[in-house]
Amino acid sequence: EGGTKPPGNSWSFAGPFGKYDRGALQRGLKVYKEVCSNCHGLSLIAFRNLGDPGGPGYSAAQVAAFASEYKIKDGPNDQGEMFERPGRAADYFPSPFPNEQAARAANGGAAPPDLSLITKARSYGRGFPMFLIDFFSQYQEQGPDYVAAVLQGFEDKVPEGVTIPEGSYYNKYFPGHAIKMPKPLSDGQVTFDDGSPTTVAQYAKDVTTFLMWTAEPHMEARKRLGFQVFIFLIIFAFLMYFTKKKVWADSH
Ligand code: HEM
Repeated sequence: EGGTKPPGNSWSFAGPFGKYDRGALQRGLKVYKEVCSNCHGLSLIAFRNLGDPGGPGYSAAQVAAFASEYKIKDGPNDQGEMFERPGRAADYFPSPFPNEQAARAANGGAAPPDLSLITKARSYGRGFPMFLIDFFSQYQEQGPDYVAAVLQGFEDKVPEGVTIPEGSYYNKYFPGHAIKMPKPLSDGQVTFDDGSPTTVAQYAKDVTTFLMWTAEPHMEARKRLGFQVFIFLIIFAFLMYFTKKKVWADSH
């Protein structure tokens, strides 16, 4: 049995002109760092990416400071030893577990998936012909809607007829409803310095916006180029039309 259909959201990044909300990206990074990173990796993102255009918008100095708060395994050194050092901009986000077996062992048999591409991985599409419409509208929002829903879908009261095995938790939106991720977010858990509400709903939306960016870091540039291509094609079509008229003007 599948999960309940996730409710829609009004994402800032939706539509052909959508952009990431910088505040949401920065708050979402904080939620990832303080909560999700205890169990989930973000292996495709390097600290330096946090300063890339179209992302959270940190300066080189802020990126370096952020990276230095992490301990990165490195080596071997000249003595053949492995060692730990503070993170640098070029390092990738470290993963919480050394390998999948360790990740499974710590989480009741289910490995927490790497979150770099999760908003894309949980996009399910709707088959032909609806994908033609989805492609231009909600399609890119399916994954984020699902991720935000799962984070808010934990309920203490299990509906009648649903049995949740030991070590699993009831989640309204997770397919099958029994998820091995314990409810990760609760109100007041993460502090924000921009006055945004410190609620589960806000955390879920911000961290999902951040995870949409990790999956599509070049979205803004891609949409900008796409728009420019449209403008070019419109001008080019006019040009071709009048050229054709002129070239064929005398041919009766
Ligand atoms: C699964 C997100 C925190 C453990 C997942 C999934 C997502 C997710 C999107 C995939 C669900 C699916 O397969 O459809 C997050 C986010 C977090 C967070 C955004 C922070 C807000 C945590 C924490 C833990 C954890 C703190 C460990 C205590 C797991 C596990 C699974 C999972 C074990 C696999 C569940 C299963 O397949 O049954 N998480 N997670 N997560 N997460 Fe998290």
